[in-house]
Amino acid sequence: MSDDHHCNYMKNIAVFASGSGSNYEAIASACADGRLDARVVLLVCDKPGAFVLGRAARFGTPVFVFDPHTYSSKSEFETVIADRLDSECVDIVCLAGYMRIIGDVLLARYGGRIINIHPSLLPAFKGAHAVEQAVEYGVKVYGITIHWVDESLDGGRIIAQRSFDYDGDDPAEVHRIGQVIEHRLYVETLAKLLSGES
Ligand code: GAR
Repeated sequence: MSDDHHCNYMKNIAVFASGSGSNYEAIASACADGRLDARVVLLVCDKPGAFVLGRAARFGTPVFVFDPHTYSSKSEFETVIADRLDSECVDIVCLAGYMRIIGDVLLARYGGRIINIHPSLLPAFKGAHAVEQAVEYGVKVYGITIHWVDESLDGGRIIAQRSFDYDGDDPAEVHRIGQVIEHRLYVETLAKLLSGES
């Protein structure tokens, strides 16, 4: 338990991100203005210099930034991360553009408490280039999925999905439309999970 605080009544969220962090910001804003009865107690980022770190600084979220290449294995850095999650009394981990597969150590210690947002209607288009692949395929109904994280790639049980129609060929536009939906869906889904509804 960490010394100052907060292992009691309010729910503690950790967000993992690698890039822009717009989903981190959506969650942090919802905590800040009371739409979520929770706080973001830690941002974990595997990319020193990522844009999300500036967002975290503005919200005053503590960060754990690391360069995976400076560790000898995934187990080694995941042990450090899991220890940080423990000391912040994290209730739920939200992957938000964390472009790294969660390994054995985190699954053993936080399995059942890790969720991910993915820019497709899973189980279609798993992996890192879901939108580009869907556009290439000529998909007409796109969507966003939030799911539990297990040892499979983007394969854990689905918690929430939202679809939208798009009949064009511009992946950037699909990303733009999808991200607006992501931000709402992540906050709504967290609200339900934290209140025990989902
Ligand atoms: C989001 O669109 C998320 O769905 C995607 O990364 C983006 C991160 O955006 N995740 C994946 O593709 C996972 N396979 P953000 O950094 O602005 O939140």
